[in-house]
Amino acid sequence: MALPRLLFLWATVAAVAAASRPPWDSIARLQPGTDDARQAVAVRELLERLLGPRAASAFSVSVNRSLAGPGGLDTYRLSSRAPGVINVAGSSGVAAASGIYQYLKDYCGCHVSWSGKQLRLPDSLPPVPTEIIVTSPNRFRFYQNVCTQSYSYVWWNWDRWEQEIDWMALHGINMALAFTGQEAVWQRVYLSLGLNQSEIDEYFTGPAFLAWNRMGNLHTWAGPLPLSWQLKQLYLQYRILERMRSLGMLTVLPAFSGYVPRGILRVFPRANATRMGSWSHFDCTYSCSYLLSPEDPMFQVIGTLFLKELTRQFGTDHVYSADTFNEMRPLSSDPAYLSQVSAAVFRSMTGADPRAIWLMQGWLFQHQPDFWQPAQVRALLQGVPLGRMVVLDLFAESKPVYPWTESFYGQPFIWCMLHNFGGNHGLFGTAESINQGPFAARGFPNSTMVGIGLTPEGIEQNDVMYELMTDLGWRKEPHDLRQWVSDYATQRYGASNAQAAAAWQLLLQSAYNCSGPYTNHNRSPLVHRPSFRMTTELWYNESDIYEAWRLLQSSVDVLGASSTFCYDLVDVTRQAMQQLVSRYYLEIKQAFQSRMLSRLLTAGGILVYDLLPELDSLLSSDRRFLLGRWLEAARLSATSDQEAVLYDLNARNQLTLWGPNGNILDYANKQFGGLVLDYYGVRWSLFVSTLVECLNTGTPFHQSHFNQAVFQVERGFIYNGKRYPAKAMGNTLDIARKIFLKYYPSAVQHNCSRAV
Ligand SMILES: *[C@@H]1O[C@H](CO)[C@@H](O)[C@H](O)[C@H]1NC(C)=O
Ligand SMILES: *[C@@H]1O[C@H](CO)[C@@H](O)[C@H](O)[C@H]1NC(C)=O
Ligand SMILES: *[C@@H]1O[C@H](CO)[C@@H](O)[C@H](O)[C@H]1NC(C)=O
Ligand SMILES: *[C@@H]1O[C@H](CO)[C@@H](O)[C@H](O)[C@H]1NC(C)=O
Ligand SMILES: *[C@@H]1O[C@H](CO)[C@@H](O)[C@H](O)[C@H]1NC(C)=O
Ligand SMILES: *[C@@H]1O[C@H](CO)[C@@H](O)[C@H](O)[C@H]1NC(C)=O
Ligand SMILES: *[C@@H]1O[C@H](CO)[C@@H](O)[C@H](O)[C@H]1NC(C)=O
Repeated sequence: MALPRLLFLWATVAAVAAASRPPWDSIARLQPGTDDARQAVAVRELLERLLGPRAASAFSVSVNRSLAGPGGLDTYRLSSRAPGVINVAGSSGVAAASGIYQYLKDYCGCHVSWSGKQLRLPDSLPPVPTEIIVTSPNRFRFYQNVCTQSYSYVWWNWDRWEQEIDWMALHGINMALAFTGQEAVWQRVYLSLGLNQSEIDEYFTGPAFLAWNRMGNLHTWAGPLPLSWQLKQLYLQYRILERMRSLGMLTVLPAFSGYVPRGILRVFPRANATRMGSWSHFDCTYSCSYLLSPEDPMFQVIGTLFLKELTRQFGTDHVYSADTFNEMRPLSSDPAYLSQVSAAVFRSMTGADPRAIWLMQGWLFQHQPDFWQPAQVRALLQGVPLGRMVVLDLFAESKPVYPWTESFYGQPFIWCMLHNFGGNHGLFGTAESINQGPFAARGFPNSTMVGIGLTPEGIEQNDVMYELMTDLGWRKEPHDLRQWVSDYATQRYGASNAQAAAAWQLLLQSAYNCSGPYTNHNRSPLVHRPSFRMTTELWYNESDIYEAWRLLQSSVDVLGASSTFCYDLVDVTRQAMQQLVSRYYLEIKQAFQSRMLSRLLTAGGILVYDLLPELDSLLSSDRRFLLGRWLEAARLSATSDQEAVLYDLNARNQLTLWGPNGNILDYANKQFGGLVLDYYGVRWSLFVSTLVECLNTGTPFHQSHFNQAVFQVERGFIYNGKRYPAKAMGNTLDIARKIFLKYYPSAVQHNCSRAV
């Protein structure tokens, strides 16, 4: 009896040991290039930006990489030395910064997010009674989606980048994309290969669409890309890289994925490039890019040339990102071909950097699951030596790939929360899934998970989900969500308040507790082209939002001075109004179908002449919800009037038509003051007046006729030449109260016609 049991035990121990010691020396060797002392200086500078002159005497910061846990796991230690002085030691700058932020949250009730900071500190910092030592179970805490570059960062200047990198450090991010400025390098590479400027100009898209140019989805659209843009982005990239590295973050640079300008075929007529199919709803005017065959020797030449030039400019942390088949179907499903492709991509990286590690988005596997069967996935992944590729399980909170690929067939992966599509506004979250998912993934048999990540397409929305996810990056077990969200409310508003806490419980159990097939892609009729086929379905009980709205409104007297509270008041009021738009839409639809003109006029009138204008004025009263700021940032990126016109077009088109003909219409919709009135509002007005006209003349409604007419309205917004204020106007609290008094009673009584 004893022997078999012993053998079994031995086998188990051996398997566990094998799983915990995969052949991943390459990953273990990834270390910040910045020395410890310089990292500590960078953290002290961050603290001074955060807390002002007080920072220097309140915190004593040190960095020592030998504090790291097994396999290089980030660690921080917090203790009190003298009264009022907090000692922070981190295994990296990021670890120290995360420790400080954890202290500020837990001991001082602070909060730092995209919508604002709450940093009211006690006069004397509370001591840490016994030393706290925390080791992250995650080697990597990753951030950014290739799309975030275009949806959120496109118009950023250094000040905004600096804020973001501070946010990243405080939230523990130790690996992130650094994609800025790559076109300047590509431009140089293409010229050196013999392309001329018009061939390059024809290839790059405008700034707001570069993410999809880089992935081979698009070319030419909204370009040409000015040389001044390329240079400004290049200089920005130097500063971004320097700051990220000084804090001990690993920067991920772009690599060659195989897409080339058409001009390559003129210079190298024998190059084996295949024209891919069209992408999304674009035709070949702007899509159908050329993919160089990975077996073609030119693939290595171009890939290596680019990476050599790139790393010569920017240095390297040895991690590179490339996505050859993002939403693009490979030419063949033959596993041998797919292995060759990934081997070739990887070889073009090691040709420039022998230590290269390939970071790949795993989006393709769940985007085209019919193509990516286990044999195809395995072939692509195993074309690269184990441990030399890291896969982002990009949408793991909803469609994790690791469970059906035996944990990516042995390649390490990062469990990522995608959360947001197109940077849409709209309360949304899958809190339970996020709270459980990373722990389940780590416990999966033979798990190869090496970290957690944030991969939103757009940011500056739903702070709460990002706070939760980054907080989990340091934990070994899930949170009690109800407790966590109460603490969140207290820290965010700088005060413990029963009504606000109750509001957050309701938000948590409703909009933030999605488990169905919904995504944070705002489907509300408010932000889509009107038709009779719109969905008004929700994944939660809308009464919870109305009650949260009432609770926040009732805490205005106590919390109204808090800027983060005001943001949430606007956001929850916005969500309630978005729900009301659905109700008016249904009322309009029923009235039209039963030919009741007066009912149609009433509901349509309230929607177009009151609800949408009120929503617009509410949003316009908060600087964080302004179309004018988005457009101003675009214009400020320009160095001439002509560029300003081009960037304005880019900025407006991305939010609305997304392409020349509404190709990906309203994908990146936002609820901005200015946009609600002049785009969504005008569109709804045309819909209602068209329906009224139909009833008056006894003619049927034709969606296709309406689409043609409304397209002119949509285009009209892009070219309306109007300047929108970049400063907030009006008093948020007054406007919010007025809206509440007017619309709340009908909202809870389910009665549209009661309002106004
Ligand atoms: C870092 O920690 C190690 C081990 O505790 C110690 O030997 C070393 O002196 C420390 N380095 C610095 C710069 O303090
Ligand atoms: C670039 O090359 C193409 C093809 O030969 C030619 O038509 C075009 O005029 C050239 N452009 C410039 C700026 O030289
Ligand atoms: C070009 O590449 C494709 C796909 O990689 C391959 O099937 C084909 O044989 C290649 N053609 C030549 C002439 O090498
Ligand atoms: C885990 O890996 C071991 C060793 O490679 C293998 O024998 C076992 O089947 C794997 N377990 C699962 C559930 O895949
Ligand atoms: C979320 O919903 C699930 C049911 O779908 C429920 O079991 C869970 O308690 C809810 N969580 C919260 C925080 O409300
Ligand atoms: C939604 O919540 C309200 C208020 O708590 C409740 O009366 C109603 O029954 C709920 N509706 C559903 C469908 O659960
Ligand atoms: C809705 O409000 C209108 C106007 O006040 C009233 O006439 C109607 O009876 C109400 N309907 C319901 C279902 O409460």
